[in-house]
Amino acid sequence: MASRSYGACVFCQRATVVKLWFRGMSAAAHPQPQPDFLKGELHRKHPGLTNLKIMRLPEELRLAAQSIIHKAQVTQLSERTSKLTNFLWSRKRAVEDLTLRQKAVGLEKELWLKALQKREDIDEQLLEDRIRNRVLSELRRTTYHWTPLKYNEELGVVYMAARLAGGYAAVRRALHEIKKRDPSFAPQTLLDFGSGLGTVAWASHSYWGDSLKEMVCVDSSGSMNILAERLLKGDDEHAEPHIKQVYFRQFLPLAPKVQFDLVVAAFTLSELPNIKDREEAVFTLWRKTSSYLHNNRQIEKFSYLILSRSEAPVAETEGVEWARLIAPVLCRTRHVHCRVCCPDGQLQHLVVTARKHSRDVYRCARNSNWGDQLPIIQKAEQEDVHTESE
Ligand SMILES: C[S@@+](CC[C@H](N)C(=O)[O-])C[C@H]1O[C@@H](n2cnc3c(N)ncnc32)[C@H](O)[C@@H]1O
Repeated sequence: MASRSYGACVFCQRATVVKLWFRGMSAAAHPQPQPDFLKGELHRKHPGLTNLKIMRLPEELRLAAQSIIHKAQVTQLSERTSKLTNFLWSRKRAVEDLTLRQKAVGLEKELWLKALQKREDIDEQLLEDRIRNRVLSELRRTTYHWTPLKYNEELGVVYMAARLAGGYAAVRRALHEIKKRDPSFAPQTLLDFGSGLGTVAWASHSYWGDSLKEMVCVDSSGSMNILAERLLKGDDEHAEPHIKQVYFRQFLPLAPKVQFDLVVAAFTLSELPNIKDREEAVFTLWRKTSSYLHNNRQIEKFSYLILSRSEAPVAETEGVEWARLIAPVLCRTRHVHCRVCCPDGQLQHLVVTARKHSRDVYRCARNSNWGDQLPIIQKAEQEDVHTESE
């Protein structure tokens, strides 16, 4: 689940700025009475398990996508699909101007120092030009070159072939987290920023159905909006859309007072060119959130961040601190290695044993998977906890 995309660590960063569901992990050094976190369940069914099942696209969506792909007749679709998948996976954020300037200044200093140590009898202007060229070529060689993706109709179809299923599964998985923890939440309005193929509308509809009265999909690419609408209509322009309450826009609604119960930005923030634009987008989306803001990547590995306007739903925690497993659990003889994101946002490597963490926690750990939650009832002894610095 952990990734180095924007909002890199699942549920962890910015815990001081926003109210996440997790509150500070009590770092009590004293053993505490064991709360009944199992609630009568077997260890292999403990409440922190996610039990991800294989997800399938809704049949209407699958058929519509198939029809669009078939009609589009994109040449070399399969090669282009793999190429786009690899590109998106290896994509990083653009290097910020300030970072680049600092790197250039550092390099320049270093080269001047070396040149002065050599004490060559060389024209100063010539030396300056040489150093400038060296700095530029070094920066060119070592700096990641970010390029924006312009989603026209053809790229939209390639994106659909590459990412529709994975994107849908990741969004559903993250929304499942809200559904599971806040079962009474029934959003009436949804805003999806960078809505692309409309996977968020489909995934939200699968959970909240007709309680959703208005879904506003915002995407700067008109072609993407057209594709998303075709998907909703089963690729038949005369048909009624499968989900009726979806409205497409190319810009965010301006009115500052307009808020939405659920606001989502899935796989979109990393499309924005710099940190300033990403921050502005997140603050704008947060202002437009009346309940939950869900961000978010992807085997489908992905990370997500859910921000809530209301207090944490505490029902299922009841005195137990839960940490999120952010890597595969390694079961060894009488101990289990767990990499977790703790409620206070710290990444830790725990070596869970029955003796130190209780038999219940140990057995739950052995039965858990990447992405599940693990009860951390008493603090492990210092030598067994390693804070991860990323
Ligand atoms: C990687 S796609 C993600 C699509 C969709 N959310 C999904 O989960 O499949 C990113 C989308 O963000 C859109 N986008 C990029 N910059 C945007 C902006 N400033 N405002 C609105 N949409 C934007 C792109 O056109 C593209 O459709």
